Amino acid sequence: MASFTSLLVGGLAVLGCISPANAGPAQARPRAPSYQAYPERAAAVMEAFDRAWDGYYQYAFPNDSLKPISKSFENDRNGWGASAIDALSTALIMGDKKVIDQIVDYIPTINFNKTNDDSVPVSLFETTIRYLGGLLSAHDLLSGPLNNYVGSEEKLAAILDQAEHLAENLKVAFNTKSGIPINDVLFGPPRVTDEKTNGLATIGTLILEWTRLSDKTGNKEYAELAQRAESQLLLPQPRALAEPYPGLLGTNVDVETGEFVDSVGGWNGGTDSFYEYLIKIYIYDTSRFTKHKNRWVDAIDSSIKYLASHPTSRPDLTFLAAYQGNNNLTFRSGHLACFDGGNFILGGLVLDRQDYVNFGLALVDSCHETYATTATGIGPEGFAWQDNKVGFNATNNPGPPAEQSDFYADAGYWITSSYYILRPEVIESIYYAYRATGDSKYQDWAWEAFKAINETCSVGAGFSEIENVNVKGGGNFTDFQDSFWFAEVLKYSYLIQAEEAPWQISADHDNEWVFNTEAHPMKVVGKHI
Ligand SMILES: *[C@@H]1O[C@H](CO)[C@@H](O)[C@H](O)[C@H]1NC(C)=O
Ligand SMILES: *[C@@H]1O[C@H](CO)[C@@H](O)[C@H](O)[C@H]1NC(C)=O
Ligand SMILES: *[C@@H]1O[C@H](CO)[C@@H](O)[C@H](O)[C@H]1NC(C)=O
Ligand SMILES: *[C@@H]1O[C@H](CO)[C@@H](O)[C@H](O)[C@H]1NC(C)=O
Ligand SMILES: *[C@@H]1O[C@H](CO)[C@@H](O)[C@H](O)[C@H]1NC(C)=O
Ligand SMILES: *[C@@H]1O[C@H](CO)[C@@H](O)[C@H](O)[C@H]1NC(C)=O
Repeated sequence: MASFTSLLVGGLAVLGCISPANAGPAQARPRAPSYQAYPERAAAVMEAFDRAWDGYYQYAFPNDSLKPISKSFENDRNGWGASAIDALSTALIMGDKKVIDQIVDYIPTINFNKTNDDSVPVSLFETTIRYLGGLLSAHDLLSGPLNNYVGSEEKLAAILDQAEHLAENLKVAFNTKSGIPINDVLFGPPRVTDEKTNGLATIGTLILEWTRLSDKTGNKEYAELAQRAESQLLLPQPRALAEPYPGLLGTNVDVETGEFVDSVGGWNGGTDSFYEYLIKIYIYDTSRFTKHKNRWVDAIDSSIKYLASHPTSRPDLTFLAAYQGNNNLTFRSGHLACFDGGNFILGGLVLDRQDYVNFGLALVDSCHETYATTATGIGPEGFAWQDNKVGFNATNNPGPPAEQSDFYADAGYWITSSYYILRPEVIESIYYAYRATGDSKYQDWAWEAFKAINETCSVGAGFSEIENVNVKGGGNFTDFQDSFWFAEVLKYSYLIQAEEAPWQISADHDNEWVFNTEAHPMKVVGKHI
């Protein structure tokens, strides 16, 4: 999900200086690794990108998503061309000129005042990470290192104008008593629904994009709206309910009072990217967001102390448990949560905490095992395990279902949802592990994962989600290609094999880009850490 970049001058990494003042309790990290590109692998990923794009362009554009088998389309993101906007930063990084031109020419024609069906709500969160994030990233790349791809100044300006038009329509979401936004907005004209609560991730994954928009346009309002909402997540109330472990919060927040209404949480979907953005907004600007960094450190320390869990059959693996209040863990996780290793590594590198990096690497190894142990070589949407230190027959720590007991004995987890929906998180975290270590083992893992997905999910005019990762061939296709296939899976699969570039994550302190949760790189504005 997130990321960061390295600064390269004449092919040599510029090493940041590690001042004793920001060294953590762990020993200083080793020297920056050296990286070795595999251009032929990167080219194979680009082949898959072009094939998916051509299918989308022929049968679905400018609708949102391709249905690759029926060669038709679906408007699952309000009909503004979600796959096109999500594909742009990947096309830019790949230098895919034909695709870049097709998308850049399309952007000024989008009408963000209406949706394809104004009775269907616009999700503030999904629209922010995909459309706003995609447009801001494209503008950052095209006005920076990739300005050779800009057709004209008018086209460049239109990208930022469109981002601002979209935010102008979306900002009504923040118009609540507490300033906590409502996630569902209706357009034509913009107005909120009567939702009473919003979730930790959907509230806490706005600050990077809305702050970037303010910094780029000079209009402070967008940053103020997102930061006012976020401030209530930094001091969550009521304390005992909202924060069952230091830094680890509940999920749902009352939009009137700004108070949490439960203590359920962890690193799974619904809460995940709130933690991710605490460290990413600090990387974006270390001078304005120290509080966010401190809260990320609290969450990481508690996660290592309270949530780290090892399966009975594979104590060598490490996953993070979820919780329902204090002292009540559930040993379930999934593909979405596998971004966690990458996020621990990213923050560990930035804060000189080799202990966080090492813990992140253990999470990455374990999520990789969910790929290495299935019939397709692709990991499942949901999985569970039995913790090796809580009472084994406790109601919150059951063993595997009988039909998966052999699988559990070898793999260290059992499958609770067998789908693969073209999600990125495992490859994303493997990418961070590679950037932290330079170990080519991670490039091989990402390559094996990419080849497995390419083999199993290629169908019709593109790629499709599959129903069962643990049967050869993937069971059946659902005939759907989500836009994050372009934004994330293909981007991280490419970056880990590609040459050094300004947006590649750095193991030092000189990152100039930070990736939003949809893998759109944003230009860092703060001073280097
Ligand atoms: C979706 O594509 C169809 C067929 O190409 C086209 O008629 C329609 O206008 C598109 N819808 C949107 C929302 O762009
Ligand atoms: C969208 O609405 C704004 C504000 O009413 C207006 O200025 C703009 O021209 C509209 N854009 C389109 C494409 O209709
Ligand atoms: C623990 O959480 C479960 C829900 O998963 C709930 O049913 C149970 O009552 C909780 N136990 C305690 C002691 O809070
Ligand atoms: C399992 O449950 C039984 C009673 O149902 C209890 O006697 C035993 O101590 C439990 N074992 C563990 C490991 O929790
Ligand atoms: C990806 O799939 C396509 C289509 O099946 C195939 O032609 C190509 O060789 C595959 N790429 C790799 C690296 O296996
Ligand atoms: C397989 O998926 C297709 C849609 O992609 C569907 O039409 C078909 O009914 C499914 N078959 C089974 C056996 O579920």
